[in-house]
Amino acid sequence: MTTALNILMLGGGGREHALAWKIAQSPLTKRLVCAPGNPGMAEIAECLDLKANDLNGVLAYAQKHNIDLVVVGPEAPLADGMADALMRAGIACFGPSQAAAQLETSKAFTKAFCQRHDIPTAAYGVFETALEAETFLTTLQAPYVIKADGLAAGKGVVIAENLDEAKAAVNDMLGGRFGQAGHRVVIEEFMPGEEASVFALLDGETAVLFGGAQDHKRVGEGDTGPNTGGMGTYSPAPILTPQMMQQVQETIITPTVRGMAAEGHPYRGVLYAGVMIHEGQAKLVEFNVRFGDPEAQVLMLRLASDIVPYLLASATGTLGDMPAPSWHDQAAICVVYAAEGYPGTPKKGGVISNLEAATRDGTIVFHAGTKVVDGQLQANGGRVLNVCALGDDLQGAADRAYGACAAIDWPDGFYRKDIGWRALKTPEQA
Ligand code: AMP
Ligand code: GLY
Repeated sequence: MTTALNILMLGGGGREHALAWKIAQSPLTKRLVCAPGNPGMAEIAECLDLKANDLNGVLAYAQKHNIDLVVVGPEAPLADGMADALMRAGIACFGPSQAAAQLETSKAFTKAFCQRHDIPTAAYGVFETALEAETFLTTLQAPYVIKADGLAAGKGVVIAENLDEAKAAVNDMLGGRFGQAGHRVVIEEFMPGEEASVFALLDGETAVLFGGAQDHKRVGEGDTGPNTGGMGTYSPAPILTPQMMQQVQETIITPTVRGMAAEGHPYRGVLYAGVMIHEGQAKLVEFNVRFGDPEAQVLMLRLASDIVPYLLASATGTLGDMPAPSWHDQAAICVVYAAEGYPGTPKKGGVISNLEAATRDGTIVFHAGTKVVDGQLQANGGRVLNVCALGDDLQGAADRAYGACAAIDWPDGFYRKDIGWRALKTPEQA
């Protein structure tokens, strides 16, 4: 039996609020501290005036306050080497090393890794000059997929409908639009199909599937308009049948955990595989080295098992001793309530009220971009609130979540009214 733990959660978005909410329910949690956290997390944990990517500050705090486990929410601290610093100090960290985090921080690394380990993904080329890139483009057919190599906050991907647009995107990226992230571009074959998010916990040697969800990335109803970090999620996703989850495990997750270990970068933490499913076959779109946001929100609602033993086992290499996690049969939905202007420049400072009414009938509102000013809750980001609910089926969950959205008083906010449409459509609409 593990003794109770002092846990430090890094991050302050909706994903971290959902993880903290689940961690706080564990009998194994002695103390939960968040850096920096947010007003919602402050209701269930202590929040520190400390940034998630302040390596020295986090290390000093963890040492001084006997932190047993650090759980890293976002990718940026991992890309900076947070897990390496903590592990060198002998502190368990849920999240991969800087070298292993390349699976998210470098698309060129990931594409070459997939090639070395026979992981199904789109054919591709990596280029540092516009001339080579344009020559390669002429060998492909529209639509063209052009990506900045490095981290670009989900905005470094262009799907171009014709060759001129594709060339313009290449020149834009190589011309410095994304800074260092765009000094190389990856050009990919376009994969048709339906996208889904699959999660697994890895401990360096072993991988345990940790649920799946579907996200709506476009800002507008009917999946139109610019890409965002995600406007809403639901789980379970009908396309992720047990057979499909097994296929993703066998063809993508297992080769990755083995390949990373064999190449000297054992991967610990959550691995998020964004997959494209077409005619029963899944191909990798991208890896992320963190939970999805807002995928984590629906997973935490549905997770029946205590999460803390899984986080600890992933950080310490003992996942092989853990049973598969158990999930509630109910469906979960998350509706992102965003600020007017998102994903461009969101309007900040609007007052949000009536959240209590929204949380009345079994719904949960996670905070994603809020702050308290003079005792008032205000919008302080693009994606501001995550309105989540469980229901006996997805329609039930959606009815509850949308009822809660309607109860919230925030004139500057908007949300998509069609989250879950793929799963909710009738057979005639399919
Ligand atoms: P990424 O940042 O690599 O996940 O790409 C962002 C989004 O662009 C993905 O979620 C997909 O919707 C789309 N996408 C990326 N690569 C491809 C591809 N090769 N074929 C089709 N769609 C893609
Ligand atoms: N919801 C997509 C992501 O977290 O990248």
